[in-house]
Parts: sequence; C-alpha cells; structure tokens
Amino acid sequence: MEPNLKVLLVSDDEVIHNQILNALTGSYTVQLISTRDVVREVNRDDQDIVIFVQPETDIAVESIQYIKSVSPSTLVIFIAKGSDFTQLRNITKAGATEFFVYPDEHSLFISRVPTIFQNYESNKKKKEDTFSVFTKGRGQIYSLFSGAGGSGKSNLASTLAQTIKLETTAEVILIDLNLQFGGIETLFSIHSNRSIADLTPVINELNESHIRNVSQKLEGSKLEVLISPCDAEAAERINEEFIAKLLRTCRRSFDFVIVDLPSYMNSQVLTALEESDQIFYILTPDTPALKVLKQFEELAVRLGIELPSRTSVILNKVGKDNEVQDKDLKNVLRFPIAATVRFDKKGLQPFLNKGEPVRKTAKERRLIPFAKDVRKWGLSVLG
Ligand SMILES: Nc1ncnc2c1ncn2[C@@H]1O[C@H](COP(=O)(O)OP(=O)(O)OP(=O)(O)O)[C@@H](O)[C@H]1O
Ligand SMILES: [Mg+2]
Repeated sequence: MEPNLKVLLVSDDEVIHNQILNALTGSYTVQLISTRDVVREVNRDDQDIVIFVQPETDIAVESIQYIKSVSPSTLVIFIAKGSDFTQLRNITKAGATEFFVYPDEHSLFISRVPTIFQNYESNKKKKEDTFSVFTKGRGQIYSLFSGAGGSGKSNLASTLAQTIKLETTAEVILIDLNLQFGGIETLFSIHSNRSIADLTPVINELNESHIRNVSQKLEGSKLEVLISPCDAEAAERINEEFIAKLLRTCRRSFDFVIVDLPSYMNSQVLTALEESDQIFYILTPDTPALKVLKQFEELAVRLGIELPSRTSVILNKVGKDNEVQDKDLKNVLRFPIAATVRFDKKGLQPFLNKGEPVRKTAKERRLIPFAKDVRKWGLSVLG
C-alpha cells in the first residue's frame, strides 16, 4: 500500500469520521482534524489527500478552494451528506476530484480508496521525475519557547537565525514575539520605531512587501528582523488572528521563520506554537526548569497543542557543574534533545555589552563556544 501518503480527514461529524477511520486504519495513516483547523493544517504541512466531510455551515466550497490554492497537487475527496446537485457542482468546481454521498455510498467509497490512492501516488511519482529540480517554497517555522524566563531563548533564536542566514542562501526572518518587552532589538542594537505593530492596519491584505517595509535588514548578513513594539497597549491589539496571518505570510516568502517567544502562555503564544513546524523548548539542566517543562506539557495537553510530533529540547547553559547530568535527563525527557549548548558567559559577555550579534560573517575564524554549538544545531536543522 501507500504508507507514505499524508492523508488528512477533515470532519466535525463523529459518526462519519469514525466509520471512515475504522475502515482505513491499518492500511493508511490518517490524521483527523476539525473543520476550523483546516487552514492551519494545510499551511503547516503538504497534504497528499484531504477527505473533507461536509460541515454544518456553508464553508465547504471556500475551504476546498483554499486547500487547492495553497497546495494545487492535493487531492480532495468530498463526503457529502445529501445529493444537492448545485452544491456538488460547486464543490467539483472548487477543486474536489471525487465525492461520495453518505451514508449510502460508504462502502463504495471504501472500495474505491485503494485505486484512488494508487492513481494519486503514480501521478505524483511521474511529476516528481519530471520536475525534480523544482521545489515549491514553503518555509519552515521554528519557534523557541520555554516556560522558564532567562533560559536563553532570545540569544539562541538570534544566533540560530544569523547562522542559517550566513551559512546558506536561504531567506530568513527572525520575529520577536515578546510583544510587551521585546529583547531582540537590544541584542542587535536596532534603533527603529518600526515594529510588528505597524502591520496591524494592513493585516487583512498582508504581503511580503508590507513585511519587508517594516522589518530591519541587518548589515552584513542581510537577515530580516521584525522587532517587538515593546508596548503593552500595542501588544494587546495584536490578536491570535494577526499572529496566524503574519506567520503564514512569512512562510510564503521566507525559507526559515525563526520565532522568539516569551516565557508565558497566552493566546498569541499558543497560536505561534500551533503554526510552528518545530518547537524548540529551551531547557537549562536544573530541577526547577524540569518542573516547569512538566507543567508546560500538562498545559499543552489541556490546550490541545500537539507537541510530541514537533517538539525537541535544546539544552542550554550546559557545564561540568550542572545539577542534572545529560544522561539522567535522557531518562526523564519525553522529547528528543536536538542540541546541547555550553554555558559560555565569557564568550557571550563582550557581544552583549556591545549589543553586537554573535555571528557576523560566513567564514569566521574564531567562534566562541556558544556560537559553535548553535552552528552545529543549525546545520542539523538544515539536514
Ligand atoms: N549558553 C549560555 N551561556 C551563558 N550565558 C547564557 C547562555 N545562554 C544565555 N545566556 C545568558 O542568559 C541570559 C538570558 O538569556 P536570554 O535573554 O537569551 O533568555 P530568554 O530566555 O530570552 O529570557 P526571557 O525569558 O527574559 O525572554 C542572558 O544574560 C544571556 O546572555
Ligand atoms: Mg527573551
């Protein structure tokens, strides 16, 4: 069978999606989401096949058009709850390739699945063979988070972004979502009154040039940086919808979107985590920090954020005298350790005092230990 196909089942109807899941599980891996999450999921990941169950409200046509606009090669199968001719015609026009009317056509659908999936797979292979050089641009969103303040998120985010920008030809943007207090502007000595908040008037038609007008291009590396308004009132006007639109627009225009988050949870942070491809949880090797991580895991379950598939730990400030040793950590952590960064006060201090980035050019002779460790992490991220 086709074990590598990404199949997304979009449904708010428990009876129908249980029927479908029961029939397909075993042969295929199917991810179930509700209708309101469809925009987020298709932006987050390329889907091969979307099975779209007719929702209660009238948004099916719009949603299918949206899926096809983000990812034209995705095959959409519509599960209708009635045979309304006009609707089925509109669904087909919107880009659905097949439809089945439930409950009558359930067995028909299940019996057709292998053929539909196989045809899709062989078409996809043919296309890949012809266009192997062509890669569709969908940038990766990497968020750095920790429930513990001062764990190193901002320093790590800015050095990771600089590293990727300097060592590759990728387009990279660094976004400071510490909306109240900022931080990144200090690390890079950016003196500007343009911040993320200046995007609020254009958020509904947000495009790449709006973003590049507001972001700062760093001298030398040409890294784009979107700084925080550092203003509680402005921060309040930035809602979750704003965050989602900002990140989605960024991923269309940049290869890597690096997001520096604050150490608390609110709806803005939650949205950023949900939009992310990778969440790097910054952990210092001590008992209080581990306790905070456990609390975050529990909170994530209650808020319904999917962590295991996309979260890894970055151990920061690691040294000989750590209270908790690496090998003990491996036993208690539920996430893989993606990188280990040494405690390097001596190396970092001069840069922090001057407000200079830790990395400046591609082939630096003498990197401080902190920068070396982040470089190793950066290269592993690039694969
Ligand atoms: N590997 C390291 N070695 C030594 N010092 C470090 C290391 N990483 C971070 N620091 C220091 O720890 C302090 C906090 O770092 P940073 O501001 O990056 O943390 P943060 O998690 O962003 O904090 P906040 O929660 O306030 O946003 C800074 O003084 C920074 O220089
Ligand atoms: Mg910070």
